[in-house]
Amino acid sequence: MTSASSAVPGGAGVLPAPEGASARRFFRPTWAEVHLGALQENLRRFRRRLPRATRLLFVVKGDAYGHGAVQCARAAEKCRGADWLGVSSVEEGVVLREAGARLPVLVLGSLYPFESFLAAVEFGLTPTVASLDSARRLAEVARRLRRKVSCHLKIETGMGRIGMSPAAAEAAAGYLLQTGRVDVAGAYTHFSCAETDRAFTLEQLRRFKRALAGLARIGVSPRLRHAANSAAALRYPAARLDLVRPGLAIYGLVPGFRPVLSLKSKVVFLKTVPRGAAIGYGATFRAKRPTRVATVPIGYADGWTRRLSNRCSALLGGRRCPVIGTISMDMLMLDATAVPGARVGDDVVLIGRQGREEITAAEAAAAAGTIPYETTTALTSRVPRTSRWA
Ligand SMILES: Cc1ncc(COP(=O)(O)O)c(C=O)c1O
Repeated sequence: MTSASSAVPGGAGVLPAPEGASARRFFRPTWAEVHLGALQENLRRFRRRLPRATRLLFVVKGDAYGHGAVQCARAAEKCRGADWLGVSSVEEGVVLREAGARLPVLVLGSLYPFESFLAAVEFGLTPTVASLDSARRLAEVARRLRRKVSCHLKIETGMGRIGMSPAAAEAAAGYLLQTGRVDVAGAYTHFSCAETDRAFTLEQLRRFKRALAGLARIGVSPRLRHAANSAAALRYPAARLDLVRPGLAIYGLVPGFRPVLSLKSKVVFLKTVPRGAAIGYGATFRAKRPTRVATVPIGYADGWTRRLSNRCSALLGGRRCPVIGTISMDMLMLDATAVPGARVGDDVVLIGRQGREEITAAEAAAAAGTIPYETTTALTSRVPRTSRWA
């Protein structure tokens, strides 16, 4: 386990290398700091809200919502904060296995093309079966490998994405039972409105329980029945069942949990422009007074969307400084007039704390007209992820 990252002295640093790999240097002073100690604390906080027997599957898909799946999975394993990991594809699961992850991994996405079942089983990943066709393909893989494999069934209750109707789930489970080669270890569903619609969420839960009762009637009783993401697990005790699947809360992206990711950069250029001066592509900002302008090396190629142009702020010298002009591919500009002491090389915080001020991912997401999931996941590989523990 990598234990510490470099500081970023003078704007350059060395990324913590995964075991066996060489460290990658970076000079451009733009990075995302991932506070793995806070992540572990969030896992502990989440667990305290659950009954003892309820297991926790930590969702690390989408490169752990942009936080770095390998380092987040390792942090969770190290503190025994999770019982399972959840990914969206076999590829994501393979990355974890190759990095040495030992926890059971559930592939939450559809496994089409079904050749991926073979890779899933070979890498010790648990596939989701979301159709009768996929049940047949998984049984074929088990036959070919001459070993018993296990899966979780996905049941559609109102999300309308992937999953079987209760009748189709019975057909698939009955088929798998009769092959004797595939253990239906789990069955799950996913809520579409856990944060917004109590009646619909409870209706989805009822549908799921009816589907489970149907499976039980044909002799299939999965050991892990699960439905709840962060919001559902926190709001609906009845939805916790045998296992919960939080992502958002563990990354500290909901109130009550510690934010894990900070997005940081530095001032690389400073100037004072006269009243009327245009800033950025399309001259969408014109200075109304002499303005101190700080240029910061982060742009939409880093995942800091153009939709935030003239709509968000960054912290500099402990003050909120508005982003002015259109965000370009690699840079943006701040009105730093309120920070007369600002210098080239000063720290800029786009997500996170500086002094008494804080900008949350939720705030940036709202300014961009999106959700925090998208804001952190959108950060591209050009932004080095560094880790810290304390
Ligand atoms: C199937 C499934 N389970 C759980 C989660 C975790 O949700 P959250 O991040 O809201 O806790 C997701 C995320 O989208 C998901 O797709």
